[in-house]
Amino acid sequence: MAFWNRRTSIDALDSIDEKHRLKRTLRWPHLVGLGVGAIVGTGIYTLIGVGAGRAGPAVIIAFLIAGIVCACAALAYAELATMMPAAGSAYTYTYAVGGELIAWVVGWSLILEYSVVCSAVAVGWSGYATGFLQSIGVDLPYWLLAGPHAGGVFNLPAAVILFAVAALLMVGTRESATVNGVLVVLKISALLVFIVLAAKAFDGQHFTPFMPYGFQAHVEGTEVRGVMAAAAIIFFAFYGFDAVSTAAEETIDPKRDLVRGIIGSMIVCTLLYMVVAAAALGASYYTDFAPSPEPLAYILRSLGHPLAANLIAAAAVIALPTVILAFMYGQSRIFFVMARDGLLPQRLGTVSARSGTPVAMILVTAIVTALIGGLFSLAEIAELANAGTLCAFVAVSLCVLALRVREPDRPRVFSMPWPWVVAPLAIVGCVYLFISLPAATRNRFFIWNAIGVVVYLLYGRARSRLARVYPGR
Ligand code: ALA
Repeated sequence: MAFWNRRTSIDALDSIDEKHRLKRTLRWPHLVGLGVGAIVGTGIYTLIGVGAGRAGPAVIIAFLIAGIVCACAALAYAELATMMPAAGSAYTYTYAVGGELIAWVVGWSLILEYSVVCSAVAVGWSGYATGFLQSIGVDLPYWLLAGPHAGGVFNLPAAVILFAVAALLMVGTRESATVNGVLVVLKISALLVFIVLAAKAFDGQHFTPFMPYGFQAHVEGTEVRGVMAAAAIIFFAFYGFDAVSTAAEETIDPKRDLVRGIIGSMIVCTLLYMVVAAAALGASYYTDFAPSPEPLAYILRSLGHPLAANLIAAAAVIALPTVILAFMYGQSRIFFVMARDGLLPQRLGTVSARSGTPVAMILVTAIVTALIGGLFSLAEIAELANAGTLCAFVAVSLCVLALRVREPDRPRVFSMPWPWVVAPLAIVGCVYLFISLPAATRNRFFIWNAIGVVVYLLYGRARSRLARVYPGR
């Protein structure tokens, strides 16, 4: 069989042998925690300012657009995750629906997404942590605080937090999910405090002019402007629910718990963001807080609440690692499944008998993300993360439609409502967001995938599990 036609079957996903299976330890509250832990992070804490700078008060529309696109994609994820409750997320779905080569491209894009999200959040965290250390009198030399792009050598705090999170994951999933739950409560509480204090200063005047830079993404001088340019970056704030689907294989009752985990975390976050954005815009002119590296704390300070501002900043330092936790967890599982399928070296796919987690894989993930976070700039890596995610969302939505045509009678625990409206909306929305990204980001994404196809042709094509099942080309 030609390699581009190799597909795994949906039924085969249920018959993975125990030695290569991850332990089932998670229930839906863990999954909502994992989802919210992955979603609420740098996006709402920091990129809300970048988005407001690009769109003005109409950033609230950017939140709405990104939220609707993600909600549509979340429904597609929920349908497929419950049909195929195996680790691997979009990669696994496309393997069963579109075949090995397309799955490889999606998996390769997911590696990009999950790695650079970890790295990006670690770099953001490093900024807050450095400020905190300085406030207690600890001054690290500058060459250890920034990569070469900013005149330093290596961003050490970013690397340290990535290894710390990796260590937590190596201890075992259950323990990590519990720690994650506590930190999720902390960062949500901080946002609620922000909403209450900012709402007291609400002034409708701050919303005029509402859309100063128009709708379409465009370049004005050196700045990217427009509601869609804001949506393309704000999109970062919404994803993470897909990390829940990577936990499918470790979920005790995947059919029920995955739907609750994915849809539940998406609804909680979308509502929260809309309210935070409205409160921020109502409390301050966007031009004031947009340039700040810590916009929410900045707004509270300008309203005369320095203590609350510091608490929000502290919550960010303590809780942003939950985002890294969820994405590193997802990353290690994507690697694990791709190795299990023979597309990456199998040695890395071994699960530790003690913790039930793929320890070697987590270590590799930590080293790679620490190198990226230590050496590259936040903007470069965050934009790339969005490109990889958009690719995965398109693939998952296409898989839903393909399966509706190919296997209309297969039982669906969760059926996406109006699939021929919702899935195309997700696809068109993702493509529109993708073309609203800067051209340099799109090019980097295509180069990454061109490299990926070469890696596949040189390694995975001959070594994949399906190459042994279907010998031939
Ligand atoms: N949604 C995640 C964040 O905003 C990636 O940090």
